[in-house]
Amino acid sequence: MGQPETLYVCMGSACHQYGVYDVLPVLQRLLAERAPDSQVALKGAFCLGPCMDGIILKLGDVTIVHVNAKNIEQKFEDEILPYLTREKN
Ligand code: FES
Repeated sequence: MGQPETLYVCMGSACHQYGVYDVLPVLQRLLAERAPDSQVALKGAFCLGPCMDGIILKLGDVTIVHVNAKNIEQKFEDEILPYLTREKN
């Protein structure tokens, strides 16, 4: 069941322009459906840095770039879920 994790979602102006508000509800649904035991806290963040590669999500030491409402499900499967379900020491 793991430790609580924080998934930071960039709410800076560039990521806002890229449509972060369309990504958020999908992300919330995916977390509830696909990782109900992972205790992930979703938090808005100020600009995370690489605006040109937005929308940016950050989970632990993983930075997820080029997120949008169309690819969030794939990004979730490929980058977020493996992190949440990884073996922890
Ligand atoms: S506004 Fe999102 S990384 Fe800068």
